[in-house]
Amino acid sequence: MLVHKPVLLKDVLEYLRCSEGKVYVDGTLGEGGHTEQILEKSYPTGKVVGIDLDNQIIERAAERLKKFGTRVYLVQGNYKNIKQILAEIEISKVDGFLLDLGVSLFHFQNQERGFSFQLDAPLDMRLDKKNPVTAARIINRRGEKELAQILWQYGEESWSRRIARVICSYRQKSRILRTGQLAEIVVSAIPAKFRSKKIHPATKTFQALRIEVNQELKGLKQALEDIADVLKPGARMCVISFHSLEDRIVKRTFRKLSHAKESDDFYCSSSPRIKILTPKPIVPTEEEIRDNFRARSAKLRVAERC
Ligand SMILES: C[S@@+](CC[C@H](N)C(=O)[O-])C[C@H]1O[C@@H](n2cnc3c(N)ncnc32)[C@H](O)[C@@H]1O
Repeated sequence: MLVHKPVLLKDVLEYLRCSEGKVYVDGTLGEGGHTEQILEKSYPTGKVVGIDLDNQIIERAAERLKKFGTRVYLVQGNYKNIKQILAEIEISKVDGFLLDLGVSLFHFQNQERGFSFQLDAPLDMRLDKKNPVTAARIINRRGEKELAQILWQYGEESWSRRIARVICSYRQKSRILRTGQLAEIVVSAIPAKFRSKKIHPATKTFQALRIEVNQELKGLKQALEDIADVLKPGARMCVISFHSLEDRIVKRTFRKLSHAKESDDFYCSSSPRIKILTPKPIVPTEEEIRDNFRARSAKLRVAERC
């Protein structure tokens, strides 16, 4: 199995200004690629709290990071609950925060997790196994209109309504339980002459389902506001997104937090919470994309706590 390569690593490390004695949070730990380097750069006393929804990937990260001993603290949880997670370990403010949104290469390669349309597996896609909503449940139970809306909203799939119609008529005959089955249904729903040659026709449908199963966009705005609250003055947050839906939320939330709240009442006016350090997002170099194709759509935005 290939190991996930941390994206925009050099930029993240530069912006976080990792140094000894500081405490960082990696809200999307994955296999620990970014965390490992943050710990190297903040040697010998820097610490990282690593959070991930997925227990299985935390086990892999724990193995990779065990050489750092107590400098790393791993939590199975949702970065959207950051205030509660930090309160439980009695940390009130941190020196830097990283979010590298989405899923890891580990998830696509791990057949039984059901993220990939290239590997036939149960239609699952849950990052957190405690989540009762699998991709199969969505595909088999949601109404045609709602399915079309999910595919359109989270996949920007222009054939959303047609795909939803074909899914609903198929499931009258038999339940859709496997990734391979769904991939074939999607291909059959898109007329041959309109099928993209560059990307698999099921790519957008699978992305949309994954976002819906894991509620990836819901609560992202509030999470960014909460992260701004737990940063020490001068501390920075780095957010890497992989599609325009995520990036739009990050851009707008940063903009909102960087504006002073106006009020007629002098005592209610408040100053900006963050300063935006990347008016335009940082994107990977051609060299990085050549080396790591998955990085091609990454965008990094950075803000500093005022
Ligand atoms: C792109 S990967 C991170 C890769 C990591 N930076 C590295 O270099 O190895 C994103 C990770 O975030 C996790 N994740 C997604 N949504 C999450 C959430 N709401 N809370 C915590 N972890 C989440 C996924 O399980 C996945 O492991």
